[in-house]
Amino acid sequence: MKILVLNGPNLNLLGTREPEIYGYETLADIETEMKNVFPEVEIEFKQSNSEADLITWIGATRGAYDGIIINPAALTHTSLGLCDALKAVADVVPAVEIHLSNTHTREEIRHKSLTAPACIGQIMGFQGFGYTLALRALVNKLNA
Ligand code: DQA
Repeated sequence: MKILVLNGPNLNLLGTREPEIYGYETLADIETEMKNVFPEVEIEFKQSNSEADLITWIGATRGAYDGIIINPAALTHTSLGLCDALKAVADVVPAVEIHLSNTHTREEIRHKSLTAPACIGQIMGFQGFGYTLALRALVNKLNA
């Protein structure tokens, strides 16, 4: 099973970026944790600050990956393009949306996700641990 884990803008700064909100784990820590918990899953981890990169990577998943875990970061609240990209492959590559913070407890602009309707589910509010939860849920779905 091959899973692509995508991370959007500013998530390269995890560990030092507003740690009271996002936690002290870096993206590399999260990647290591996921790989330790799921050694049987082939996990590819990517981060970009560019919407175009994320859209291109999603568009290339058909036939190459079994599922996507995505933290679109700020693009969650703005990007119809990301939503369309996820929908374009959703028939064969299901996606789970993940957020470190509980966006519903934050500013109103963060309450709406444009990308969530293109995903099979969403996990938020558990900081880095949420990525492993998302993978557990996705693996379970793919094995069902
Ligand atoms: C985030 C929440 C977004 O609102 C924010 O723009 C991020 C991170 C999260 O993981 O909690 O960059 O996606």
